[in-house]
Amino acid sequence: MPEIVVLPHAELCPEGKTFEAAKGESICDNLLDHGIEIEHACEKSCACTTCHVIVREGLNSLEPSSEDEDDLLDRAWGLAPQSRLSCQAKVGTTPKKPNEVDRHPRHRDCAGRAAS
Ligand code: FES
Repeated sequence: MPEIVVLPHAELCPEGKTFEAAKGESICDNLLDHGIEIEHACEKSCACTTCHVIVREGLNSLEPSSEDEDDLLDRAWGLAPQSRLSCQAKVGTTPKKPNEVDRHPRHRDCAGRAAS
């Protein structure tokens, strides 16, 4: 089973958290389902960047980004090569290798990892 490891973040997850990720669901939904209140101002409609995360490891195990997501990410604060909008980044159903996710750097320390 894929696993998400959320690294400590002062506001969102001070102790960090590790949990099994639901395949085919977004990182955002996985985080919300496990009590991590990541921002999602547009209600997950790919119209904002508040759910921005940085995938530190295993980016390839997520479903690929869409053109709309990539266009929106270009406007995200703190964009990194591994950036994804967590509401659009779905945990792959056939991951090739482990992945790791970092929360938007504006929010400093919250990071996570999803591993299969
Ligand atoms: S919640 Fe707005 S793009 Fe993800």
